Order: sequence, then structure tokens, then C-alpha cells
Amino acid sequence: MYKIIDGKELAAKMRIDLKKDVEAFSQKHGRHIGLAVVLAGDNPASQIYVKNKIKACEEVGIKSFAYYLSGDVSQEELENLLRTLAEDKKINGILVQLPLPEHLDSEKALKIIPDSKDVDGFSADNIGKLCQGKDSIVACTPNGVMKMLESCNVDLRGKKAVVVGRSNIVGKPMAMLLLNADATVTICHSKTRNLKEECLGADVLVAAIGRAKFITADMVKQGAVVVDVGMNRDESGKLCGDVDFEAVKEKCSYITPVPGGVGPMTITMLMYNTYLSATRSEI
Ligand code: GUN
Repeated sequence: MYKIIDGKELAAKMRIDLKKDVEAFSQKHGRHIGLAVVLAGDNPASQIYVKNKIKACEEVGIKSFAYYLSGDVSQEELENLLRTLAEDKKINGILVQLPLPEHLDSEKALKIIPDSKDVDGFSADNIGKLCQGKDSIVACTPNGVMKMLESCNVDLRGKKAVVVGRSNIVGKPMAMLLLNADATVTICHSKTRNLKEECLGADVLVAAIGRAKFITADMVKQGAVVVDVGMNRDESGKLCGDVDFEAVKEKCSYITPVPGGVGPMTITMLMYNTYLSATRSEI
């Protein structure tokens, strides 16, 4: 019988604890922790993510500073804003919602964010530290997945973990975290041969592909832990993950749902990273 890893419930619990820590910080220092959220253009999914991030800030007592830039903002304007935020003492974290409009050079813009304010954990310094197993700011989604696995005491040591997807935001940092937790890790991607066989070997399978219901029951080993990072719409427009949940669940020991799985944890980890950045900047 499978168990559901309820990300919504875990996120709510973590936010209660975080709210206390944020309050204690604000009391001690006589100021708020601040997160700048930058959105350029009107991508509907990005608008929803940003709205939810701002709502989460309110919930835990972090002051949000939202910057809504037009879709034709110039590289120079964006960079000037990021330089100002980088210097601003009220801002502990800077989040630039991705993807940026195509005419902008994201990599060049993101480099302006100081490593200490990189609450997405995207900078070369933070990624490099993660690879070296050193303390770093860890990308929100994979960090959230690790918290979910910890919450149900999934022991990763020596287990075979398969990550499907190799993005810089999820797949690669996810693989590193699993490796740092002593799992034996395989990263699969669009060019992987025998994807089904690779997945069938997984004790822990993380799906971060971006295709609705891509992981089917015949790709999952009996008793596996399945984590679904996907956020898609199915044929009828309903939200669904990268895993065919109804068919796959029966084979799992644990499985995360969509919605209510990884999504709420991602935003909670953003709040956590912002708190962490604030505490570290005080040292
Ligand atoms: N777009 C999709 N996921 C993310 C994320 O984790 N951070 C940012 N900044 N943009 C995203």
C-alpha cells in the first residue's frame, strides 16, 4: 500500500516554524528580512508563481519587494535594477523569475546577484559548493524534495536514485543532493537509451521532465519512492505532474501528488533560503 508524501502539509508545518524564526530575527535586529522578486513580462505561469511567492512572504513575515517590469524591458534597465538591489541593505534575497523574455541575457543578468543574496541557489559559487558538499544556498525545488524524503525517513544510503531531467534548476542540483546523501545516482535525459530500464532500476525516482504523465507504471519498480516535480496540464486542462499518478501509485511505497506535492515545498524553501541569507549576512 502506497503512502502519499503531502507537500502541502509539510510546507504548512515548516512555515509555522519559519514564521517564529523570522519574527525572532526581526525582533533582534529591529528590521524585516527582505526579498526582492523581479518579474519581466506577462508569462501567465510566472505571474502565478510570483503571486504565490509574495503570498508566502506575507505568511512567514518576510517583507517582499515586487518589481514588475514590462516584457520589452532592456538588458540595461534590468541590470541597473539588480545592481541597486544588490547594494540595498533591506534586501536579503533577490529572485528573478525565469524564464526571462527571450531578448534578455539571463546568465549575464543573474551574475549581478551577489552569491549571498542568491536565494535560488543558481550562482556558480552556490552550485560549486553544492558539488563539493560544502554549505551553500541550495536550489529551492531539489532542496524541498530532500525535505520531503527526510520527512518520511527515506534512507538514501546506497540506494539507486534516478533523476529524469538535467536542468540547472532541478535535475543537476537534485542529483548532487542525492549523491551527497550517499545514493548511487543516475541522471537520465532526452538522449538516454533504455530510459524505461534505467527507471525500473530506481529505488528513488525523481521525475523532472516537463511532460504530462510521462512516467508510466511499466517504468516503476515495485516499492519505489516516486517524486514528481512536474507541473503540466493534461488533455482536459487539469493540472498534472510528469508521473501518471493513478497508474503508478499502486507500485510505490511513497509518492508525491500534483498539485500539493513538490510545488508548495519549493516556495517554502525559498522562504527558508531568504531567512538563511539574512542570518548569514549578520555573521
Ligand atoms: N522558474 C521556474 N522555476 C523557478 C525557480 O525555482 N526560480 C526562478 N527564479 N524561476 C523559476
